[in-house]
Amino acid sequence: MTKQFRCLITAGPTREYFDPVRFISNPSSGKMGYALAEAALAQGWYVDLVTGPVALLPPTGAQTCNVVTGQEMLAAIERLFPQCDMLIMAAAVCDMRPKAVADHKVKKDALSMTLEMEPTPDILQTIARRKQPGQLLVGFAAETEAVEAHARSKLNAKQLDWVAANQVGGEHNAFEADENTVYLLGKGAQRIVLGPGPKTQIARDLIHSLAQCVAST
Ligand code: CTP
Repeated sequence: MTKQFRCLITAGPTREYFDPVRFISNPSSGKMGYALAEAALAQGWYVDLVTGPVALLPPTGAQTCNVVTGQEMLAAIERLFPQCDMLIMAAAVCDMRPKAVADHKVKKDALSMTLEMEPTPDILQTIARRKQPGQLLVGFAAETEAVEAHARSKLNAKQLDWVAANQVGGEHNAFEADENTVYLLGKGAQRIVLGPGPKTQIARDLIHSLAQCVAST
């Protein structure tokens, strides 16, 4: 019997709190990551879903792990990555966090209007260093301009096998919309255009394209 293909998918935003009731984050809805998890299950893959806080029900059949911060997402991925064949990082990880976190609600009068920030760990870059032969890394690139050029830079900088690029902001806000266009770029200069269409369809096409690439290697 052949081994079931294992896919680890991240979805949604991460949050970085600076007191128990205030945080910084981004408007990711998690729809793309959840649609990918659904499509990967339909493909017959085993799916681990690591998700930030979203208002969606996880697909039946996925092993779901709920996280809040980037550090928690990194810890979950470090635990699950060694067993997986492919990591798809669809999560919109918050790039920075407040340097100081208060353990009580800071009163309005005592709030500083300037927050000192520090970077959160880059999960893909950290994981890329631990990649074993046969494992595939797929990143997403959310860009407001020069979508494909910036996405290719991320493909190289983060040592990815594939990057799924989409435009965010303005009229084409991929973050909250149900519709999307994705450019799937491979490290061997492959370029596959998916959409425009509903995220559910794009997710199915994306998983299908990745499955074909797995089958041909
Ligand atoms: N990512 C990550 N860890 C971070 C930030 C991003 O693993 N701390 C992943 C995202 O999940 C995505 C890819 O890196 O798969 C690109 O994320 P994106 O937000 O487009 O780019 P950044 O690397 O954050 O760079 P920039 O904000 O400068 O565009």
